[in-house]
Amino acid sequence: MAKILVTGGCGYIGSHTIIDLINNGFEPICVDNNVRSSAKVLEEVTAISKQSVPHYAVDACDMEALRVVFEDHQDLAGVIHFAAYKSVPESVVRPLDYYRNNLNSLLNILELIAEYKVPNFIFSSSCAVYGNSTELPVTEQTPMLAAQSPYAATKQMGEQIVQDFAKANPEIKNILMRYFNPAGAHPSGLIGEFPQDGAYNVIPILVECLVGIRGQFGVTGNDYDTRDGTCIRDYIHVMDVANAHTKALQYLQKKSTPDNCEAFNIGIGKGLTILELIEAFDRATGQKVDYKIGSRRAGDVAAVYSDYSKAKQYLGWSPQYDVDDIMQSVWKWTEYSKWYRN
Ligand SMILES: NC(=O)c1ccc[n+]([C@@H]2O[C@H](COP(=O)([O-])OP(=O)(O)OC[C@H]3O[C@@H](n4cnc5c(N)ncnc54)[C@H](O)[C@@H]3O)[C@@H](O)[C@H]2O)c1
Repeated sequence: MAKILVTGGCGYIGSHTIIDLINNGFEPICVDNNVRSSAKVLEEVTAISKQSVPHYAVDACDMEALRVVFEDHQDLAGVIHFAAYKSVPESVVRPLDYYRNNLNSLLNILELIAEYKVPNFIFSSSCAVYGNSTELPVTEQTPMLAAQSPYAATKQMGEQIVQDFAKANPEIKNILMRYFNPAGAHPSGLIGEFPQDGAYNVIPILVECLVGIRGQFGVTGNDYDTRDGTCIRDYIHVMDVANAHTKALQYLQKKSTPDNCEAFNIGIGKGLTILELIEAFDRATGQKVDYKIGSRRAGDVAAVYSDYSKAKQYLGWSPQYDVDDIMQSVWKWTEYSKWYRN
């Protein structure tokens, strides 16, 4: 079985990816300092996958602690690097923490990958690298515009670092994964997104509104040039995001072309308006979330959605879940975990 080191493996996307890796015959090893998660999620991962996952409670910015993991596992077939801070608003308030954590962890990982000759690397990037692009759909060739936050800047810089690393290390194959809006939970409802410091993504905010710990949901503008006037975004089920990593590893394992650093968009390829999202949420919960139309939020573009045809062509990946699957799994996870109480 090919051993894969997963940094940030206790986090939202990392934990779902570990399950998909196990389902496809990989052997994941988790590294996570649990600064934004709980190691307990691995108990649920084991319950779902019937396999226990070795876990190192290590800060990826701590080079010597990280080296121990690479020493213990000198037969790694790949590394997936999820570990990072990811809150856009927090990054505006604490930019240095974001640059320090997101970039130092990446530099350490790459240095050890080169030293221990790990053949394959996948970096968690984001559609945030495209800035406020108005080109639709967004392809991997869409030019990157100015980063809109320190968080987005760490992803643009991270991609540049991996590209330079790839040139200097032609024997190591790299992939940059540009996720659009990951959403949903594992269909079992046992794991899902756990916003530790309060919700700032739209679906967890809808949950907080419905369960009464927030007031009305505020729709930020209904005068955009879209179907119903509200903003359009690309929501992709977290299990589809997870499976894209498995497919990317399988692709890297058999790939022999000289281009050793490729970017892939991971999105559903079509956009949903905020009002359509609310309708799907209401269908899944059997309730009606209370919302009001507010004014536009500075910096929002009317519509962003991906073209994922490159991932389809090269990775053989395409989304399997739709927005109703997303919302049903979110609600199952919410009822199981009551995460909003923490
Ligand atoms: N969820 C999204 O909406 C989204 C969108 C685009 C890109 N991404 C990127 O995908 C990756 C995973 O995101 P997520 O949603 O699972 O986030 P998450 O916060 O749920 O998980 C990140 C995990 O990394 C861990 N971590 C952070 N810094 C660490 C460090 N220095 N050493 C060890 N562990 C550390 C945290 O404890 C957490 O468990 C991130 O790189 C994020 O920027 C996420």
